[in-house]
Amino acid sequence: MRFDVITLFPQVFPGPLSIGVVGRALEAGLVQIETHDLRQWGLGVHRQVDDIPFGGGPGMVLRPEPLFAAVRAVAGIPGLEPAHPILLSAHGRRLDHGLVERLSGESRILLICGRYEGVDERVRLGLGVDEITVGDFVVSGGELPAMLLIEAVARQLPGTLGDPESAVDESFAQGMPEYPHYTRPAVFEDLPVPEVLRSGDHAKIAAWRSEAARERARRLRPDLLGGDGRAAAVQSVGLEPEPGAARAGAGTGGMP
Ligand SMILES: C[S@@+](CC[C@H](N)C(=O)[O-])C[C@H]1O[C@@H](n2cnc3c(N)ncnc32)[C@H](O)[C@@H]1O
Repeated sequence: MRFDVITLFPQVFPGPLSIGVVGRALEAGLVQIETHDLRQWGLGVHRQVDDIPFGGGPGMVLRPEPLFAAVRAVAGIPGLEPAHPILLSAHGRRLDHGLVERLSGESRILLICGRYEGVDERVRLGLGVDEITVGDFVVSGGELPAMLLIEAVARQLPGTLGDPESAVDESFAQGMPEYPHYTRPAVFEDLPVPEVLRSGDHAKIAAWRSEAARERARRLRPDLLGGDGRAAAVQSVGLEPEPGAARAGAGTGGMP
């Protein structure tokens, strides 16, 4: 799968994408990331890409001409399948597991990173770009959101994860958070690993994990428990209490 990224800061790529799972996928050629410096389509001798907003207000807005030229040039690179452009945008459609899965079916994705106050609205109107947000908060540019999107989508590609089961088990793949993990030691600072996980009884382990995931959703993401019924179908099996759950400062109980 090929990602093209239009950005004013191409030097930040691949950044953290060069390590771990996606780094290996890049090396193996399963994933390709090509950056395109928006400045090369800038206007005049100063390669201007931004201007003050009509109607007043703080900051600068990315002008439409460089972005139109960049998107048309990159989306239509001869010899490649046309790429559907996506603008990283604080107010776009929320990136979630369903959208990540859908995007992983594309062969080519073109990401546009905004900066400053944002992007002239005619980029959306005239180029038919999708707008995607990585969450209801604002960061300074589209580069980190683009990296998040690339990382999440690349993990879904066949051959990217060493064990394909990892993607099936992970949070949200089944519409629920993942179950809690434990490793050695069996007891750490008076916190024991739940007995059931050391029992070797796979049916009981699966049941415990289902209920632990459900408890996690109740505690952290009650929104996941309504709706499509998948979460509600998980049966309650008398969850062995999570060690230390009641300890002061444990989990998110200590967060404001
Ligand atoms: C400082 S932000 C602009 C925020 C804009 N003034 C607003 O209030 O929606 C600059 C750029 O960062 C990117 N950006 C910021 N937050 C984002 C988010 N949560 N998801 C995706 N992109 C984001 C977008 O590309 C945006 O154009």
